[in-house]
Amino acid sequence: MKKYNWAVIGTGRIAHTFAEALKGCDDAVLYAVGSRSKAKAKSFAEEFGFEKAYGSYRELAEDKNIDVVYIATPMSSHFADVMLCIENGKNVLCEKSVGLNCSQAEQMISATKEKGLFFMEAMWMKCRPTYLKAIEWFNSGRIGAPEYIKADFCNLVEYDPNDRLFSPECGGGALLDLAVYPLTLVSDFLGREPVKITSNAHIGRDGVDLSNSILLDYENAYASVNTGFEIPNRNNAVICGSKGSILFGDWFFCTCEVSLLDHNGKVIEKSIIENRINGYEYEIEEVHRCLNSGLTESSLVPHSSTLAVMTMMDTCRKDWKMLYPNE
Ligand SMILES: NC(=O)c1ccc[n+]([C@@H]2O[C@H](COP(=O)([O-])OP(=O)(O)OC[C@H]3O[C@@H](n4cnc5c(N)ncnc54)[C@H](OP(=O)(O)O)[C@@H]3O)[C@@H](O)[C@H]2O)c1
Repeated sequence: MKKYNWAVIGTGRIAHTFAEALKGCDDAVLYAVGSRSKAKAKSFAEEFGFEKAYGSYRELAEDKNIDVVYIATPMSSHFADVMLCIENGKNVLCEKSVGLNCSQAEQMISATKEKGLFFMEAMWMKCRPTYLKAIEWFNSGRIGAPEYIKADFCNLVEYDPNDRLFSPECGGGALLDLAVYPLTLVSDFLGREPVKITSNAHIGRDGVDLSNSILLDYENAYASVNTGFEIPNRNNAVICGSKGSILFGDWFFCTCEVSLLDHNGKVIEKSIIENRINGYEYEIEEVHRCLNSGLTESSLVPHSSTLAVMTMMDTCRKDWKMLYPNE
């Protein structure tokens, strides 16, 4: 079995969770970590057992022994970080949302294509067995023609001006951080090109959306998405069709449980698949599968899906007149 030398850029919250999953994957080598601070890189490397600790992202990108880089920095930093890795011939798994806007995502994708490198958005939801089970039920017609999706991702986050979530400079806001999940779900089940998107946002004092509400109209279906930092614990998703519905367990994007319901709301099948590690192993396995097969794009998280959702989010922000600095 080929082993891959992984590198992680950024040492924040999700980098820790991801490193935990990497540690449990046999064909992953915890090779390097890069931070803006050498001390943070060293401490992260010691915590998880990475061989190399770099005090700059550039030094890491220039290391010739790295096979694939996982980028776990704030949204505003993704474009520069991804481009740095591509220039240095690295395959990339980049956290969601892959950039601030669709134009950045397009540039990253075309740069990786030019160099023949692998690039994937770390949309772990799309690699999870419960999500794939829902797609299987849907594609085999178990709920009939899709009619309506409701998907929410809302949690209370206390205001902290130093948190990237509230910072325009970091690409903060609920849209890029949270709505990217339900919008991805809607685009997978109803289609990548809604006829119309209508949305509203509550823009906070720092200029990013604290919550938003998005309606997506399709020819014969519609979807309603609500996300934000101001409402506690609303993390459900349901896909309704002419014959029945698919109901995800709580925290729909990372749930281990999904149910198939008939048109009376009675559960007719339930799938429960526990994580082997912490749930991030599935996207790591997908990266390995692609690299093993010499693919530059994942069929589970294709570039077209990433671009479609970035376009939806551009449309929302345009209506809200919410721009990030230097956009
Ligand atoms: N897949 C998921 O479940 C999931 C969950 C949470 C977040 N995410 C995504 O992961 C990314 C990071 O989120 P996070 O919650 O881990 O963020 P975080 O805790 O703020 O960490 C981000 C890290 O990026 C680096 N960084 C580079 N430029 C920065 C800047 N200007 N300000 C602050 N940090 C900067 C820092 O590492 P150094 O100081 O070491 O350079 C920092 O620790 C985001 O794209 C987010 O959407 C995904």
